[in-house]
Amino acid sequence: MHTSHEARHTPQALAAPEWWRTAVIYQIYPRSFADASGDGVGDLRGITGRLDALDELGVDALWLSPFMVSPQKDAGYDVADYCDVDPLFGTLADFDELLAAAHARGIRIIVDLVPNHSSDQHPWFQAALTAAPGSPGRARYIFREGRGPEGDQPPTNWESIFGGPAWTRVTEADGSPGQWYLHLFDTSQPDFNWDSEDVREEFRRILRFWLDRGVDGFRVDVAHGMVKDPTFPDWTPDPQAASMGGDATPAPYWEQVGVHDIYRDWNRLLAQYDGDRALCGEAWVSTIEKTALWVRPDEMHQTFNFHYLETPWDASALRRTIDDSLTAFSSVGAPSTWVLSNHDVVRHATRLGLTAESPQGAGIGPDSPGLPDRSQALQRARAATALMLALPGSAYLYQGEELGLPEVLEIPDDARQDPTWFRTSGERYGRDGCRVPIPWEAHAPAHGFSATGRSWIPQPQGWGEYARDGQRHDADSTLSMYRRLLALRRTHRLGEGSVEWLDVKDLLGAEAAEVLALRNQGVVVLANLGADPVALPAAATVLAASTHLPSAQHGVERSSVGGAAALLPSDAVVWLVSPESPEFS
Ligand code: GLC
Repeated sequence: MHTSHEARHTPQALAAPEWWRTAVIYQIYPRSFADASGDGVGDLRGITGRLDALDELGVDALWLSPFMVSPQKDAGYDVADYCDVDPLFGTLADFDELLAAAHARGIRIIVDLVPNHSSDQHPWFQAALTAAPGSPGRARYIFREGRGPEGDQPPTNWESIFGGPAWTRVTEADGSPGQWYLHLFDTSQPDFNWDSEDVREEFRRILRFWLDRGVDGFRVDVAHGMVKDPTFPDWTPDPQAASMGGDATPAPYWEQVGVHDIYRDWNRLLAQYDGDRALCGEAWVSTIEKTALWVRPDEMHQTFNFHYLETPWDASALRRTIDDSLTAFSSVGAPSTWVLSNHDVVRHATRLGLTAESPQGAGIGPDSPGLPDRSQALQRARAATALMLALPGSAYLYQGEELGLPEVLEIPDDARQDPTWFRTSGERYGRDGCRVPIPWEAHAPAHGFSATGRSWIPQPQGWGEYARDGQRHDADSTLSMYRRLLALRRTHRLGEGSVEWLDVKDLLGAEAAEVLALRNQGVVVLANLGADPVALPAAATVLAASTHLPSAQHGVERSSVGGAAALLPSDAVVWLVSPESPEFS
């Protein structure tokens, strides 16, 4: 059978496959994972108590969103003390216990590092507020004089990512209206000045603090934003572009070349430790080619592939993103990563069914246009996951996606917490809908999230239907599909493999423009993004499928076929092998 070889990709550096090149990394959003204290907010002991479930799921590593000391104005992404645990989440001893318990199960842990900004409650910012303009105390943040004769206009026209101006004016120690400080996010999140050697040295100390405790790496928040254009020009974003980057001409606060020196410095620091400690950048950058610059050999080890997350559910668009990603990342010797959901985006079990635009970070609510049919969207999400987990490199999962959780739309206004909601006076819903505490047991208080039944955002009606206990022993559940795919990904070493596109017509005996076919390590993956079912090759054995595969002859539903022709429905993905030959003929 003919296969097209022009699009074959082989990741480099197979000789020394560090763990992060192929790892499946599961994101824990601590406040919504498991609450051991019963106060309605998840905590570190809660995570330790639920590690067996993650072991059973079959992930390689956990990324913990921030649990450091914070006033929680942006759910912990506003850090007041980088080297201690917020009492809301527990203690450093709880962290050590969690790390040891994860390591005992062979699961690594990376923690979130937030270097673009601190909380306004950070002692350095408090000191900056009382320090004189131009003094070293102010130089750790970005203070500027205002414009206009009275200095009452912000220094630039920049908008905060959460809405509203990105500058706030302070009152000086003598009571007079004073300078302005930059906050790309909430007013409570002043941006650090990365020209300051104090800041650079402090972050080296913070990195060492966590590395010495034994963490396996860091997810680096807003890694594309730490350095600003020193001329501070005015700038107006392209309304079509994603709010966190994606403009053809990058904002003067995104993608500045100076960030790369910082990562090189950190790369050298991590290299002093054993165990392949890793840096993964959260970099919303305009193109995949530019994103690859973040992971040159002496910089970060991984970066989130948000281009994949943002690719529509369309066969040729997906194929192009996969090709471009593998080419760009392998050209610098880095693995590609793949991601579909996280705590900042509409969950993919809802997003992939939306029929209206939904800008990243804006969220959706009950009044949003183009809301999907829930079960259709889940079918598509399961297919998207089955395609993603077949790809070589490293994949990120977000807690709850293995349960098929949808975005929660019905959150009472007074329960919302995302600063986006407040800074836009409710015009943008924000990200609370993907952050609702996850269900463990259908019939327990708070569905097992918290023994007291408390939950910092109310869980919606019907949340128990997604509970883990109900899915564990159901072979057709989303959870069972994730477990099966993760186990097969491991056995077939798909993370280390390569993508070879197959000729769909040769494989299926008919044209099918909306079908993708690829082979990785002898596993053939077919993704049907078209509206009509397609017949699978008769000789193939099904390893896994994202949905029931009806039989071609009798229309009988079955989840696996051995030797008999079956149909691959619309919005479905199947993993196949053939005992005879990779081409099934
Ligand atoms: C990152 C985080 C997001 C946070 C923002 C500001 O994008 O993922 O949750 O609000 O940074 O720290």
